[in-house]
Amino acid sequence: MSHSPKFWAVVPAAGVGKRMNADRPKQYLPLAGMTVIEQTLACLLQAEVFTAISVAISAEDPYWPELAIAKHSQVVTAPGGRERADSVLSGLMALGVQARDQDWVLVHDAARPCLTSSDIHRLINTLINDPVGGILALSSHDTLKNVQGQTILGTLDRSHIWRALTPQMFRYGMLSAALQAAEGNPAVTDEASALELQGWQPKIVEGRPDNIKITRPEDLPLAQFYLQQAHNEEQA
Ligand code: CTP
Ligand code: MG
Repeated sequence: MSHSPKFWAVVPAAGVGKRMNADRPKQYLPLAGMTVIEQTLACLLQAEVFTAISVAISAEDPYWPELAIAKHSQVVTAPGGRERADSVLSGLMALGVQARDQDWVLVHDAARPCLTSSDIHRLINTLINDPVGGILALSSHDTLKNVQGQTILGTLDRSHIWRALTPQMFRYGMLSAALQAAEGNPAVTDEASALELQGWQPKIVEGRPDNIKITRPEDLPLAQFYLQQAHNEEQA
């Protein structure tokens, strides 16, 4: 008997935000009336496609239990791991009893609060019949240089270079197996790279440029601006 696949979300949120250099992990900094992670989860919930959202949280995190969203009926808390890939695998395992191998999982960074429902739906609609899955990505507008030290060795062919964003959408079984096989491999900085190591060829789906990752202090006012713009678009 075949079941139509369900959709799950996994949100790695166990980083410390070193580059942000703030008094707390960046996912708990204020952004447009909430915290960054609340904005991110609000967007995922608003899409109304996920059976549950598994959020990977560090064991030493005093902020998460204080947020009302931590008790939301569709939100599951999983223990965070040493690296992002470990946190994602932990988030997947926390869904283990309910999720089936053929179900889809969208992995989305807690630090990307400007995701829009339109990007979630475009990713899903484009890949729903794909055997592997894929990721939101952006082409590069800048000319890209191959550099050693301070010296330019050459210019890359930009037409083949895309920047990986999240969400990244893969089947539960395939993604879990690929991340397990890649455990401890520092080259696995996103889900697609774990699948690539298994010989799979994930797709890219062009994403919106406002889906930025909060990384450095100057990203926060930019995210605030993008959220305001998106809000104005909704009102218009
Ligand atoms: N993340 C995680 N577990 C880790 C490391 C990162 O769940 N061990 C999460 C972060 O919380 C973030 C996402 O992965 O939502 C993307 O990582 P990044 O932007 O690098 O966040 P941090 O690792 O927190 O930041 P930094 O690298 O500056 O310390
Ligand atoms: Mg990091």
